[in-house]
Amino acid sequence: MRSRSLLPIAIAIANLNFASSGTYTPRADIGYPAGLIPDCPGVTKNASISNATLPQLQVTFHKITNGIITRRQVPIKSAARIASMDKTIDWKNKKTVLYAVGFLDSSIFPQSQAIGTGYAKRGYNVFITETQFFLTYIYPKSVRLSRVIGKKLGEFLVKLTEQGLDPQNLELVGASLGAHVVSYAAKHLYSITGKKPARMTGLDPAGPCFRNLPYEDRFNINDADKVDAIHTNIDGFGIAETLGHIDFYVNGGEFQPSDIPYIPCLIVCSHFRSILYWWQALEHPKKFIGMTCDSVQDARFARCFNSTTHNYLGIETKFDRPGIYYLGTNNEFPYFRGKEGLKAENEIYTSVARTINSDDSFVV
Ligand SMILES: *[C@@H]1O[C@H](CO)[C@@H](O)[C@H](O)[C@H]1NC(C)=O
Ligand SMILES: *[C@@H]1O[C@H](CO)[C@@H](O)[C@H](O)[C@H]1NC(C)=O
Ligand SMILES: *[C@@H]1O[C@H](CO)[C@@H](O)[C@H](O)[C@H]1NC(C)=O
Repeated sequence: MRSRSLLPIAIAIANLNFASSGTYTPRADIGYPAGLIPDCPGVTKNASISNATLPQLQVTFHKITNGIITRRQVPIKSAARIASMDKTIDWKNKKTVLYAVGFLDSSIFPQSQAIGTGYAKRGYNVFITETQFFLTYIYPKSVRLSRVIGKKLGEFLVKLTEQGLDPQNLELVGASLGAHVVSYAAKHLYSITGKKPARMTGLDPAGPCFRNLPYEDRFNINDADKVDAIHTNIDGFGIAETLGHIDFYVNGGEFQPSDIPYIPCLIVCSHFRSILYWWQALEHPKKFIGMTCDSVQDARFARCFNSTTHNYLGIETKFDRPGIYYLGTNNEFPYFRGKEGLKAENEIYTSVARTINSDDSFVV
């Protein structure tokens, strides 16, 4: 009996996390979070990549040909020339996406390949950054390198525009530190061509070492014509403030519900989840639906269910409805809830929390 009754409670506890929806009201007398590592002195100093090391900075061409995934990893220096000779790349009739991986991340990892395949299936020319040689230095050093890496990617994009890539057909997506990398690439593209990418998306853009930088030194709303961000761990590895035209605070943006009983989804898990949501939103374009909120605070506490303005996360996002959005998910892969997620009674934390002590008598 005991073991049978444990399972739902175990799931419930894991889902509880520390999210603070419900009736809790923040109080000024206990202050507000500074967030994880807001300042990193020296992080805006120059960094450069030597000629000897530059070949380690690479771009992966990710394609689907006749249903088969093919990948080719090339040094950034020759990437544009190789693209110019590649008959499967079409600047005119296809959109192009550049996906930048984050700290300790690689284009080889399954989540990067999943994002690449998601776009390739939708007919995009797909490029994924390979920065593992660089973005494995201790984090504040990696942050310092992210600017020069972004500039090199920007130079690559400029060369692609010379081959016929119209920035209006270009979308940049970056995960965590990669969000800032694509923002630096976009800034460089703009400084040379006077044109911005059509869209830039940040998957929980990195907060540590960035949250206290001036907005122009990081992922921001001016870098592309349309900018959106998914927030999944805003006081930890992410950033709490709005960063784009559209900002989704998934399940409030603080923490994500866990899929594993007894193991809450803490900062790494919650941060990483933004990539899984984006991947699944690519696969199911109208299934992740958010609603507008009046403030980030309301989004944190899921106090947005009265809103009648909705939007999709992913390639179907309607940018004519800018704002702060709360987006509710399920706790299990593939996470989306469709229209069910728009109902207050389905809010994941409170709906689970309500059931735990719903019994009036509790004898052990
Ligand atoms: C920093 O890098 C830029 C561009 O590479 C260069 O123009 C500038 O002189 C460098 N500054 C320092 C202090 O090295
Ligand atoms: C690095 O390579 C570039 C071009 O390939 C060259 O112009 C430059 O002089 C090289 N720098 C050094 C320090 O060797
Ligand atoms: C939502 O609307 C209901 C009924 O109109 C109201 O009682 C409730 O306070 C509203 N909630 C919020 C968060 O505005």
